[in-house]
Amino acid sequence: MDIRNICCIGGGYVGGPTMAVMALKCPDIQINVVDINKERINNWNDKDLSKLPVYEPGLAEIIMKCRGKNLHFSTKVREMIEIADMIFISVNTPTKTKGIGAGKASDLKWVENSAREVATFSKGHSIVVEKSTLPVRTAEVIQSILNSSQNQTKPDYENKSFDVLSNPEFLAEGTAIDDLLNPDRVLIGGDNPEAIKSLRNIYKRWVPDRKILETNIWSSELAKLTANAFLAQRISSINTIAALCESTGADVREVSRAIGKDSRIGSKFLDSGPGFGGSCFKKDILNLVYLAEYFGLPEVANFWNNVVSINYWHQHRISKIIIKKLFGSLSGKKIGILGFAFKANTNDTRESSAIQICKDLLEEGALLTIHDPKVEKNKISKDLPEESFDPNTWDVLDSVEKTLKNTHAAVLLTEWSDYSNLDWDNLAKKMVKPAWIFDARSIVDKTKVLDAGLNLWRIGDGSI
Ligand code: UDX
Ligand code: UDX
Repeated sequence: MDIRNICCIGGGYVGGPTMAVMALKCPDIQINVVDINKERINNWNDKDLSKLPVYEPGLAEIIMKCRGKNLHFSTKVREMIEIADMIFISVNTPTKTKGIGAGKASDLKWVENSAREVATFSKGHSIVVEKSTLPVRTAEVIQSILNSSQNQTKPDYENKSFDVLSNPEFLAEGTAIDDLLNPDRVLIGGDNPEAIKSLRNIYKRWVPDRKILETNIWSSELAKLTANAFLAQRISSINTIAALCESTGADVREVSRAIGKDSRIGSKFLDSGPGFGGSCFKKDILNLVYLAEYFGLPEVANFWNNVVSINYWHQHRISKIIIKKLFGSLSGKKIGILGFAFKANTNDTRESSAIQICKDLLEEGALLTIHDPKVEKNKISKDLPEESFDPNTWDVLDSVEKTLKNTHAAVLLTEWSDYSNLDWDNLAKKMVKPAWIFDARSIVDKTKVLDAGLNLWRIGDGSI
């Protein structure tokens, strides 16, 4: 099957960058990204590239090169499905908030909706590719929705047929373009070798053949959840060790370095921080927990649930340390928050530890000034909603200096490189004495902070 026209439903953090790279590498394929969110599409089409809905290093350059040539963004879901040979489903799959599985299971309504649209509008043979991270056996749901369209006596019923593939995305935000250009592996799950080959041929244009793995569809779906669960588990593990380091005089950076040298353990994902955030880790683990419960494996469910519980505990632990060091009360005290994104090089705040920690501090009566190089105030307003947090108790400022002026403490929550070389001598003069620096990312220069006469708490550092 020769693919000439691709449609991607969902132009978010995954769909946008993934299709941009595909367009760059496949100039002979027309790629249409469709989204029901008109504002998002307008932003993808904006001449001013700083308005793109997703900030990723290298993305704007690719958009500039391909947009209007073989990469198009629109809200024309029907039209683009009609002409597509291959349709990627890249819509969001949030955790269900009500009904069976609430708080754990994924809400598949958008995926179902997309499958129905494909069933209704597609013509001829279509390969439907699951790009969104989905619970195991979702392909079955998609397939049955697609099949149902074949039972309807529509004029083009005779010509409609489908293959469903799973092709999970492993990109991480902030490094999305590099991850897409040089993936560790591309995973394709499915049962029709012809359909798999069509997708493989697309990736083969820039990914070495040996890195393209084929599995059955359920393994592919489960591998994505498992990869995220293992990564998150490492972070929860090292964060528990950080707490132990603080109590024993050990230093978690040294422990990480020592264990990371063991090639069986490896050195990545061993940085203790304020807890993991991002749209995927918590959602995917809870999904795994739900699946384990559903299949009657409560011990498995418990094991993975603890990875998430430890993450909450760890975030609150940091808030409690701040309160304790500031003499047990934050009432009326000003605290500067440096970093709100869930990690550096992204404007994404989903599940950011900064949200939980800011909420804890506001509940204790603190007044917050917040700085982040990429996150805008309107996003933070959604994370600290007016109904729960008086907007007069927090503000967003555009420089570190303004953010820390007259504060009792600075709390570093995102590892932006801008924060690693701050002039602490100068900043100390602007803060209220005795001032504290709480570095949850191990990013500040310890000596410079201490030499500036500031008190320092650093994650997992029992030596201070
Ligand atoms: C992705 C994956 O798809 C998700 O499964 C994974 O676990 C996290 O990453 P992401 O791209 O981050 O989601 O989500 P988001 O940025 O919210 O983008 C999804 C887009 O789909 C939104 O722009 C939304 O408007 C769009 N959408 C949703 C549709 O176009 N149609 C729908 O029916 C539903
Ligand atoms: C993750 C996976 O890495 C990616 O493969 C998957 O497709 C989507 O989910 P992402 O959420 O973008 O990607 O970010 P990631 O770099 O994995 O970081 C997640 C969280 O863990 C961040 O809050 C980050 O700060 C934290 N983290 C990461 C640590 O605290 N310590 C580490 O050593 C690494």
